[in-house]
Amino acid sequence: MSFPQHRPRRLRTTPAMRRLTAENRLAPAELILPAFIREGLTEPNPIASMPGVVQHTTDTLKRAAAEAVELGVGGIMLFGIPAARDAEGTASLDPDGVLNKAIRDVRAEVGDDLVVMSDVCLDEFTDHGHCGVLDANGYVDNDATLDIYARMAVAQADAGAHVLGPSGMMDGQIGVIRDALEDAGHVNTAVIAYAAKYASAFYGPFREAVDSQLKGDRRTYQMDAANRREAIQEVELDLAEGADMVMVKPAMSYLDILADVADMSPVPVAAYQISGEYAMIEAAAANGWIDRRAAVTESVLGIRRAGANMVLTYWASELAGWLKES
Ligand code: PBG
Repeated sequence: MSFPQHRPRRLRTTPAMRRLTAENRLAPAELILPAFIREGLTEPNPIASMPGVVQHTTDTLKRAAAEAVELGVGGIMLFGIPAARDAEGTASLDPDGVLNKAIRDVRAEVGDDLVVMSDVCLDEFTDHGHCGVLDANGYVDNDATLDIYARMAVAQADAGAHVLGPSGMMDGQIGVIRDALEDAGHVNTAVIAYAAKYASAFYGPFREAVDSQLKGDRRTYQMDAANRREAIQEVELDLAEGADMVMVKPAMSYLDILADVADMSPVPVAAYQISGEYAMIEAAAANGWIDRRAAVTESVLGIRRAGANMVLTYWASELAGWLKES
């Protein structure tokens, strides 16, 4: 036999053949749009390191949410930037605080047509920028932080969030939040656990997006990039504490972790294509070095192929528009 009998190229001959035999395809419904709202803005404020992404006003946030519904996007993840910060992040508990108000405003706009998710974390609300409160030595105090997370969670559920996203990587956070929600009667408010969240250099642009006050890093609470096994432990703990969905974050440099988690998780798995992943593709595309639309599509498809059921991406609405066209 001088020629191959098996010719994988047969299935690549035409666009229709490739479409028919594709193992994975993207759909708007599995995309989640992260969105920022900043207290006191009268005009949306562009984020320089994330071209195309803004800090929203109430009006533009509602419009972005309505547009996401039109495009068939699955969900929105809200982050709030308060006007005033303190050491305990107390603005996070105010029912009329920026994030809780945004949850209410977005729910009023979209009802149940879009899954409304919100960030349960203190880093946007503290004047030191850490995801929790500090002890006398400046170390992030796990259990003191849990008390605040529990109250934040109830405030966000009261405001109408369908899903809460605790992103602070405190041990036990899913359990205390679940308990607090049950005690408050919010039995149907779901929790998406940022289960395997790594300390990443690629969060850089997000720090601009939320005007972060952080000096130093989050390495005493977020995971070490060197670790793979540990991600499974984090996911198992969150499942035992009642997580309804789990997340791996970032996505691109952690696709092995995502594949591991997708293999073992009995609940839906999300991946967060973070700010630095967005910024890199936008920057290369702006220079004409890569084809923007092709690179964006390929990057999200890669995350899906690795096993994510849902993808948080700043391109959610734009990508959903492209998927509708094609
Ligand atoms: C913390 C939080 C961060 C992101 C989401 N939630 C920042 C961090 O952990 O430093 C990053 C998201 C992104 O980079 O797109 N509340």
